[in-house]
Amino acid sequence: MGIKVHETEKQFHLYNSKLSYVIGECRDGEMGQLYFGRRINENQIIYGYQTLAGRPLCCAVTDDENYTKELACLEYPAFGNGDFHGPAYEIIQPNGSRVTNLMYDSYRIYEGKKPIPGLPASYVNTDSEATTLEIVCIDDVAKIEVTLYYTIWENYSIITRHASIKNIGQEEVKLTKAFSCCLDLPDYDYDWMQFEGAWGRERYPHTRSIEKGIISIESMRGHSSANFNPFIIMKRKNTDEFQGEAMGINLVYSGNFMAKAEVDNYGKLRFTMGINPNWFAWPLASAEEFNTPEVIISYTKNGLNDLSQNIHGFMNNNLVRSPYKKRPRPILLNNWEATEMEFDEEKILNIAKKGAEAGVELFVLDDGWFGKRDDDYAGLGDWYVNTNKLPAGITGLAKKVNDLGLDFGLWIEPEMVNPDSDLYRAHPDWVLAAPDRRRTLGRHQMVLDFSKPEVVDNIYHQLYDVISKANISYIKWDMNRSITECFSQNVAPEYQGMVYHKYIFGVYSLYERLIQDFPDILFESCASGGGRFDAGMLYYAPQAWCSDDTDGHERVKIQYGTSYGYPISSIGAHVSKSPNNQTGRSMDADDRANIACFGTFGYELDLNEVSEAEFEQVKKQIVFMKKYRELFQYGTLYRLQSPFEKNIASWMVVSEDKKQAIVVMYKTHKTPNIGMETIKLQGLEENTIYTVNGKEKIYGDFLMERGLGTMGSDEPWYMSDGDFTSRMFILEA
Ligand code: DGJ
Repeated sequence: MGIKVHETEKQFHLYNSKLSYVIGECRDGEMGQLYFGRRINENQIIYGYQTLAGRPLCCAVTDDENYTKELACLEYPAFGNGDFHGPAYEIIQPNGSRVTNLMYDSYRIYEGKKPIPGLPASYVNTDSEATTLEIVCIDDVAKIEVTLYYTIWENYSIITRHASIKNIGQEEVKLTKAFSCCLDLPDYDYDWMQFEGAWGRERYPHTRSIEKGIISIESMRGHSSANFNPFIIMKRKNTDEFQGEAMGINLVYSGNFMAKAEVDNYGKLRFTMGINPNWFAWPLASAEEFNTPEVIISYTKNGLNDLSQNIHGFMNNNLVRSPYKKRPRPILLNNWEATEMEFDEEKILNIAKKGAEAGVELFVLDDGWFGKRDDDYAGLGDWYVNTNKLPAGITGLAKKVNDLGLDFGLWIEPEMVNPDSDLYRAHPDWVLAAPDRRRTLGRHQMVLDFSKPEVVDNIYHQLYDVISKANISYIKWDMNRSITECFSQNVAPEYQGMVYHKYIFGVYSLYERLIQDFPDILFESCASGGGRFDAGMLYYAPQAWCSDDTDGHERVKIQYGTSYGYPISSIGAHVSKSPNNQTGRSMDADDRANIACFGTFGYELDLNEVSEAEFEQVKKQIVFMKKYRELFQYGTLYRLQSPFEKNIASWMVVSEDKKQAIVVMYKTHKTPNIGMETIKLQGLEENTIYTVNGKEKIYGDFLMERGLGTMGSDEPWYMSDGDFTSRMFILEA
């Protein structure tokens, strides 16, 4: 890993064993993109990379008419100077002009990586893991200094990027767009993969061809959203799970975002991603600086499994910060689907007691424990215990749960308030609401104005009081509605364009304070399930409740899709009751568990209500998961067969030393009397003999080349079981 500087040509070649990323000064002094792809020799000076001008309707920007920005590949392009694509940033200057032109000024290289103030970002454990290049560019007329940050990572095929924009003039300017990255690629022979959905069906992969014109996804909901995830893959047309070139871009941000691919009629592809510029306007006073969120750009020549494994490793090692980083996650039991808000202490302790008997490690008390929270019309904002339901308070309940041998966890939804709450009655101006307009409700609640420090402070003190007085090991941080009427009350008009971003700052700051105060607590983020599942959140909460849809069949698709951009250790997955609450579908308890194993694992039901036989199954599942959870959560994941393609899905995890692997196969529909069905495994040691489910002994190469037989004389499962069934194969070397 390193950065080779060709001083005379002002070219900077960032490389590790897998990738090269080369940038350099263009003819007019702006920074250009020279190469991004498989590792090439860093001593190569790159010539002839910029198409020349002299074409009708192109505008030349140098005296010899031989250089046009329209044809050049640029690093952080501006508006108004001959590049007619969407710019990476836009600044309104005091005279009203938006025209800017950033010229290379200087560079700095250092070992390691600096944090981004107030924002989540990847970090180094030791400086030797990464090298950072800062390129400073200046617009002398607009009096703007932009620093482009690039970090190249030693152990991962990854570059991280962000930009900072500083006002070096005397007068205020206004930033109306500030993307985190621009990738100008010389051809557009790519497919675009986005991860889309809605509540209950989050992050389904959807692939479309990149064509001339614009493809774009975004969120304008105030959170990253279940609708479009801030993660994009661009892959070559022939790339599949096992071979081919692809790049992934994760935005480390949890608010409004935009990702965009623009192809011009010369075939150049511009990819930009960052904070959504719609309704964004950030005043920058003299000497003030704005930092964009970071992007994680991953690269592979070896297919989508390799791309995902690279992202998983990187997030586990260099993004997640909790003491639970790389630690097996506790097996939890959550009461939400069992009781919703109808509970008292006795009911809760009965559920917890049965969980302890089954072997769970952590009991989580969900929504309904505070204020007048008997239904979802009241209580949010009042973070003091409802002693009608819980006479011993949270402190007393936690102690009783601890006495059962379980850790205790608690649900909160800090960003919200119900109109029927003491907080709202005292501070109606603390919600986001536009003057003289309807205050739109979502789930009967409004969004607190977290752009204001005093609002965040109030919630912090309320929560601190509860958490500090009880033995709490885990917090589930929920968020159950999108932002409407995004207006901060009683502040200056120029402040309004900052509100969406400042809101997210407020969320991050509250997380940071609670993490600093309670460093041993495991945080799980949640937004009506998977409505804010992004790399920004993982910096604070190492796991995220993946979806409110706990139906096993639906979960196969949701978890499979999520795994493209996020590690298994981050995917909150629980076994719930059958028939399922969301779909009414019935599945056997072991099938439900086989799917939840590919996640943080837990239960979301009252175990007092399951049959004795099912309770025995649960006990065995927990013993099994305790034995293998490290392999599931931190092993190398391979997606083998996609649930989006046929009625069989399969995936597997392999231990680092390749001595253990677990394969799960899931089938939606039974087809009688079909032919041979095999799963070609991945990642095994070729000449090692693996015992499959303690029976057959099979060489690794055979399992990978011919495949694991799923139907045979001693494997009647495939023929006889019904729909929505699964099968697990445990391989030991
Ligand atoms: C939505 C979450 O996704 C559920 O798991 C549960 O916590 C409810 N909110 C509680 O209101």
